Amino acid sequence: MKIVCIGGGPAGLYFALLMKKLGAHHDITVVERNKPYDTFGWGVVFSDQTLDNMRQWDPETAAEVQQAFNHWDDIELHFKDRVIRSGGHGFVGIGRKKLLNILQARCEQLGVQLVFEQDADSDLDYPDADLIIASDGINSKVRNRTPEVFQPDIVTRPNRYIWLGTKKLYDAFTFLFEKTEHGWFQAHVYKFDEHTSTFIVECPERVWLAHGLDQADPQQSIEFCEQLFAKNLQGEKLMTNARHLRGSAWLNFQRVKCAHWWHHNGHSHVVLMGDAVHTAHFAIGSGTKLALEDAIELVRQFKRVGDRSEHIPEVLRQYQAVREIDVIRLQNAAWNAMEWFEVCGERYCDQLEPEQFMYSMLTRSQRISHENLRLRDKAWLEGYEAWYAARHGVPATAKVLPPPMFTPYTLRSVTLKNRVVVSPMAQYSAQDGHVGDYHLVHLGARAMGGAGLVMVEMTAPSADGRITHGCPGLWNEAQAQDFRRITEWVHTHSDAKIGLQIGHAGPKGSTCRPWQGAGMDEALPAGEAEANWPLIAASAQPYLSHGQVPRAMTRADMDRVRDDFVAATRRAAQAGFDWLELHCAHGYLLSSFISPLTNHRDDDYGGTLDKRLRYPLEVFAAVRAAWPEHLPMSVRISAHDWVEGGITPADAVEIARAFKAAGADMIDCSSGQVSAQQKPSYGRMYQTPFADRIRQEAGIATIAVGAISEADHVNSILAAGRADLCAVARPHLANPAWTLTEAARIGYTALAWPRPYVSGKSQLEAGFARERALQTATRGD
Ligand SMILES: Cc1cc2nc3c(=O)[nH]c(=O)nc-3n(C[C@H](O)[C@H](O)[C@H](O)COP(=O)(O)OP(=O)(O)OC[C@H]3O[C@@H](n4cnc5c(N)ncnc54)[C@H](O)[C@@H]3O)c2cc1C
Ligand SMILES: Cc1cc2nc3c(=O)[nH]c(=O)nc-3n(C[C@H](O)[C@H](O)[C@H](O)COP(=O)(O)O)c2cc1C
Repeated sequence: MKIVCIGGGPAGLYFALLMKKLGAHHDITVVERNKPYDTFGWGVVFSDQTLDNMRQWDPETAAEVQQAFNHWDDIELHFKDRVIRSGGHGFVGIGRKKLLNILQARCEQLGVQLVFEQDADSDLDYPDADLIIASDGINSKVRNRTPEVFQPDIVTRPNRYIWLGTKKLYDAFTFLFEKTEHGWFQAHVYKFDEHTSTFIVECPERVWLAHGLDQADPQQSIEFCEQLFAKNLQGEKLMTNARHLRGSAWLNFQRVKCAHWWHHNGHSHVVLMGDAVHTAHFAIGSGTKLALEDAIELVRQFKRVGDRSEHIPEVLRQYQAVREIDVIRLQNAAWNAMEWFEVCGERYCDQLEPEQFMYSMLTRSQRISHENLRLRDKAWLEGYEAWYAARHGVPATAKVLPPPMFTPYTLRSVTLKNRVVVSPMAQYSAQDGHVGDYHLVHLGARAMGGAGLVMVEMTAPSADGRITHGCPGLWNEAQAQDFRRITEWVHTHSDAKIGLQIGHAGPKGSTCRPWQGAGMDEALPAGEAEANWPLIAASAQPYLSHGQVPRAMTRADMDRVRDDFVAATRRAAQAGFDWLELHCAHGYLLSSFISPLTNHRDDDYGGTLDKRLRYPLEVFAAVRAAWPEHLPMSVRISAHDWVEGGITPADAVEIARAFKAAGADMIDCSSGQVSAQQKPSYGRMYQTPFADRIRQEAGIATIAVGAISEADHVNSILAAGRADLCAVARPHLANPAWTLTEAARIGYTALAWPRPYVSGKSQLEAGFARERALQTATRGD
């Protein structure tokens, strides 16, 4: 085959040499516009894993890279006059020039033709090639010539960065943070050869403009950075690589992804590779890794399918199918890490102490969890756990230091023994609003299951406030008595606290139980023994387009509902609950006021967010006044409507601030279910970013909830300061003793079990201990 690689960066060169190795008869040319040994940039990093991969494909190149690289394990943070270091992170740093020189030399050795100083205008310049590799970097001309084919999706990010070098040598991957009168800057620094380190400085656009850096020439920018990091540089200079610098020399990162990676241009097959098809932010340093791994995968497919020209379409199809998955995973992680650096000045730098800031930074991509950190650097993690425990009420004299999940949490007069909450879950099993034996068994079992707080499902302040005929209520004294039986049982037989979620279903009321009629959210079928009831809401808009249309509330309705909430709150206090949560989420009555998607009022209770919050805040204030002063109150909100024009996470910060000002202790950060048009992005811990943002920006304690299903998730969230408590719902349906089970799974044995169950404890712990030992043995450490 005749193959032309347009662009002699890591992708083009590595593919060329691997392909030539696969078949020496292939005629392969790399066309590069720069001179040999002439390139932008300083060093690049990639992980140990990438080097292992290279070793399998061309041991000669890997050996050269290994000779030239700088390996280090540690990450060091310089922040607020503290230096914190943790190990086990395993990186390889190498000069970009050095890497390219190694690849160029190996190409020549194997017989790849290298043509320098040739700027290829288009893939059409090489009509006799069977295959053209568009490895021409982020601004790929080949990709841009036919955007309708490749469908690139390019997002320009808000931060500014400048890529510099220095002769100061660093023996760890180092992050420096400095605050100026306009905001925070950070530097990502690593040594890549005997004499030089890469020094990337980054800050938000706002801070960059405030310092006039848009007007600065490269030299002035360097002087600015030298002054900013003078304490660390200790007289050492920063250097530019002039060829790389354009305009002010400060760039915005561009995230590139493409729907299609290859096509036939009428003469040749053309395939994108490396930065031309995808980019990953330098926050996780993976652009070079992706470029090299693309090259490996394409060669692997030629080896697997066949390396004659008729095989090309199938090879390219497989190449995209396989690479696309890995790339998306990595781009997601890089995106999280990039966002962390974009918001850290606003969200973390001023708020977090250095220890917790370090933890938050290390887990920024959300790919590294608490237990991953333990594997990387056990001593550091244990030190951090001790720090967290001491900060959170564990006496220094404690015999066993609990991981974050098992530290106590105190709010007003209530102390939870740990930070796991059984999230409120409707059971649709009440009769006329009365809870019964079903609820005693359901809630009692979960109270014995180890969680610190068990929340009762949404309970209505009036009969018309229920979701279904099977939902509980607190509109009469007998209902309070039924609840009292449950709270007394929980307090007598467990050391869990029990809370009530109080809420009015509003426009989502009078519906079927999930297993009845047409199912959840659907209106009750006509003619059933259990009749529909009329609905009220902020505005006369049904939840489902074919659902029952609610009546827009009058002021008299508002008075009545507020008074019902107050009366129900008094009954909840008499019933012996430890905690009260006001349900302002999921499209129910109070939520229907907050979201612009459901509130179309033109009176004092509609319009701006302030006005839409007025009635929910009025109810909150009345309920708070009726709820005993010494007991805590949380508010559940939908922090994202997942619909264009609906509530956004930024609005959620404002909502949290308003409830905080009204006296709320905590925000329970759920999302969605406000509009049937929602398009949520589900995934592990998918709502935790809302809890994190609200906690840091509104300065109020938060509960994270949603797809938190392992102790490792809970520990990672709490340790990074992303929330104060974690609520777990569906896993508690599968296993009432979820918390006891997870404690045993991570080897934390100091959690007390209900006395009659104790003989099950050591057996479970021994089983998990065996599993852990097996895993360690298979890992070989
Ligand atoms: C500030 C910063 C820091 C980074 N840090 C890291 C890091 O630590 N680790 C990491 O892995 N990655 C890092 N990267 C990313 C990394 O540099 C790229 O992801 C990687 O180089 C991609 O390789 P590539 O071969 O696809 O593209 P490139 O390396 O961009 O190579 C493309 C080549 O094509 C040539 N070319 C372009 N157009 C033409 C044309 N028309 N004709 C002929 N030749 C052409 C260019 O001159 C260039 O040599 C960083 C990037 C930046 C901006
Ligand atoms: C069966 C069921 C019933 C639920 N009922 C309620 C409820 O009454 N009030 C509420 O705020 N959330 C309710 N939810 C939402 C959960 O509290 C929780 O926010 C959601 O399930 C995400 O957590 P998970 O991923 O751990 O399940 C319910 C969830 C389930 C599965």
